[in-house]
Amino acid sequence: MAVLINSKLFFLASIFILGSLASQAMARSAPHEAAMRLRHEQWMARFGRVYRSSNEKEARYQIFKDNAALVDSFNAAGDKPYKLGTNQFADLTNEEFRATRNRFKGHMCSAQQGPFRYENVTAVPTTMDWRKKGAVTPIKDQGQCGSCWAFSAVGAMEGITQLSTGKLVSLSEQELVDCDTKGEDQGCSESNYPYSAADGSCSASKEGNHAATIKGYEDVPTNSESALLKAVASQPISVAIDAGDSSFQLYESGIFTGECGTELDHGVTAVGYGESGGMKYWLIKNSWGAQWGEEGYIRMQRDIPAKEGICGIAMQASYPTA
Ligand SMILES: *[C@@H]1O[C@H](CO)[C@@H](O)[C@H](O)[C@H]1NC(C)=O
Repeated sequence: MAVLINSKLFFLASIFILGSLASQAMARSAPHEAAMRLRHEQWMARFGRVYRSSNEKEARYQIFKDNAALVDSFNAAGDKPYKLGTNQFADLTNEEFRATRNRFKGHMCSAQQGPFRYENVTAVPTTMDWRKKGAVTPIKDQGQCGSCWAFSAVGAMEGITQLSTGKLVSLSEQELVDCDTKGEDQGCSESNYPYSAADGSCSASKEGNHAATIKGYEDVPTNSESALLKAVASQPISVAIDAGDSSFQLYESGIFTGECGTELDHGVTAVGYGESGGMKYWLIKNSWGAQWGEEGYIRMQRDIPAKEGICGIAMQASYPTA
């Protein structure tokens, strides 16, 4: 009998406890929802996002909420050397992000393995930051046009131009987008040829006004981070990476260790390398504006066991020659 009463009491107590937990959860979720909506409003203000209709706003809010939950749980876990954030891509699904940002044009020149002028480089400094040597222009924003390959190539061209002439000139991505012919790429200065984030036709008169001339391109021997190190120690290098994962989309700071595969879909410029907290990294200049990542940059893990490097960074690296 006593057992029966006890189990009944237990049963009633369980219902009571469950009921009060449920109402607590409901009471919590309403303010949580309100706080999330406020967070979305603040995010919209910060990034100047305007929606055309309340329907669109609601749909974007739901995506923002999912991304914010991902960011919060990732950062709370704290088991990676990098953090995520609700950056300007926080109201895009990962599918949308891949579609609008990463149309990588592959390699501009032949993929044949030619000469590698840095093969005999032996003494490389332990750290390198080409920004400190004045060979890197400010962060650009490629806008909606998926011409990241051009920003990648231009970053390396700006570097070699500065190293060979002593002058840092911001070169034109738009000209590469419009005027890319087979190799022989030359750059006019960006003020002559501003970037318009759309396919245009090649302007011969503007193109005639050359601020920089490069002799050609060479490839870094593929799948070798040690070869890439010799190259990046010598000049800024164009690299291709797999930037499709949501952890890359929402990267905020720290040393990125993945997730990512090796389906190269984005071109960026390696402008240095170093080591922090016992982990080696590549210093990467992106073209998604200064609000993304570490003021437009991302540090990516260096010297990983896989020969392709993090996100395939050692698979398709190349550099212009002056
Ligand atoms: C590297 O050294 C080898 C052996 O001395 C030489 O044959 C080769 O031409 C050198 N490569 C470069 C790019 O200087």
